[in-house]
Amino acid sequence: MEFNVKKGDLFECKVPCLVIGIFEGKFKTDSVKQLDLRLEGAVGRITRDGEFRGEFKETLLLHTAGRLPADRILLVGLGEEKKIGLEKLRQAAAVAVNTLREKRIVRLATNLAQIKIGSSRAGERVQALCEGLVLADYQFERYRTEKREKLPPALEEVVLIAAESRDVKEIQEAAENAAAICQGSFFARDLVNEPGNIKTPAYLAERARSMAEDLGLKCTLMDRAQLEEEGFGAMLGVARGSVCEPVLIVLEYQGDNNGGRPLALVGKGVTFDAGGISLKPAEKMDEMKMDMAGGATVLGALMAAALLKLPVNLVGIVPAVENMPSGSAIRPGDILTSLSGKTIEVLNTDAEGRLILADALTYAKRFQPRIVIDLATLTGACVIALGHHAAAVLGNHDGLVQQLIKAGQRSGEKLWQLPLWEDYAGQLKSDIADVKNIGGRPAGTITAAAFLQHFADDFTWAHLDIAGTAWEEKGRPGVPKGATGFGVRLLIEYLRQSK
Ligand code: BES
Ligand code: ZN
Ligand code: ZN
Repeated sequence: MEFNVKKGDLFECKVPCLVIGIFEGKFKTDSVKQLDLRLEGAVGRITRDGEFRGEFKETLLLHTAGRLPADRILLVGLGEEKKIGLEKLRQAAAVAVNTLREKRIVRLATNLAQIKIGSSRAGERVQALCEGLVLADYQFERYRTEKREKLPPALEEVVLIAAESRDVKEIQEAAENAAAICQGSFFARDLVNEPGNIKTPAYLAERARSMAEDLGLKCTLMDRAQLEEEGFGAMLGVARGSVCEPVLIVLEYQGDNNGGRPLALVGKGVTFDAGGISLKPAEKMDEMKMDMAGGATVLGALMAAALLKLPVNLVGIVPAVENMPSGSAIRPGDILTSLSGKTIEVLNTDAEGRLILADALTYAKRFQPRIVIDLATLTGACVIALGHHAAAVLGNHDGLVQQLIKAGQRSGEKLWQLPLWEDYAGQLKSDIADVKNIGGRPAGTITAAAFLQHFADDFTWAHLDIAGTAWEEKGRPGVPKGATGFGVRLLIEYLRQSK
């Protein structure tokens, strides 16, 4: 998709379709009146009869019949004016793309970013708008063998209209930033959508390696022998049930040449979670190919950071394993010695994410990170607590948690904090080891984080449980069915604000 910025009048643009936003019931504004005039009263007729009300996500496609250089106009409802925000703009843009794609229209012009949203800058609005346009245009079609022509086409060109010449540069930059960020989200989505038979830990490692090569990142892959040598007992324990070789993926991005301490991103990379000997029920087990979404987000965020040339140093750590039942799998009751030296009693082999993260967090210390953020599809309990609209955030440093929550609000990838009080730690006391890997049914997301805290308390740390947000079952504006890429935009927003 190509973004072109033009100063001037939207109505003079010669493209297949103009996309115009209208607030609910606001038909008397200057811009709507002007449009009505150009269309010889058509807007008046449509709105009078209630054919278009401007409700959020409502659309109406009109043909201009030669009254404008453009062939068509797509009206997009923005909902109540007082409720408008960047996320609404993002979604309105996505709705427009969905509508146009159905009609096979691949070029559009819009001035949607000119609407007033609080005290937002033009760049922020353009970024949200472009994210909405790009994110909605995602399709995972690798495994469809039917003819390409039958599939809905991808958007080719978007013309962004600037009110003033001095805005052109800011708009162009914001559009390019959005495109880079979405490239990271798409990298993550592609990896998560990939099925488990293809996406082995080795496959994930190879995709990470080639991305790193393309973008000039350092990539280190640790194989089973190296992990054994170092003592990754918890991670290797999980890997034991699978015929697939485990890999620890480590990427380094250096954007700050002043030698600043890095920020470490750690992502759960379970390429398929069958549960191990504590086998999961058959229903929806297929969705457990997404259990490496945290890892995919880490890789996508490093990719976007490199594309944007962010002035930070980053380390991405993704322990990649498959969690399968077999004769060589670990059993409930087994005790593992983690990389940190702490022993873990495994009472449920399906609580495997925290085991591999324990070792990955311990490994992160070698980079002396100033901050560590981990992301994981860690607990079903998180889906029960927050559903699919927000991820849980917990951590040992309130400033970091608050900054992440703010980045979530701005990016539209929302976070909600759960407490990590000491009160919960008791649930993880083992009778015979240092800690056990499950804390019972109450507060499952919190006790999972409390487990991680045993391995993260030497640094400033936050944990994001993305179990409910990594996968979209129905499809919504900007988020087609399947992998969401959740967290890439959030992390980039956080990195840009906190640098
Ligand atoms: N990968 C799952 C968590 C999950 C569930 C992610 C649903 C996405 C959607 C994780 O490894 C798991 O199985 N957790 C167990 C932990 C329990 C045994 C303490 C769970 O949540 O049931
Ligand atoms: Zn599991
Ligand atoms: Zn899992």
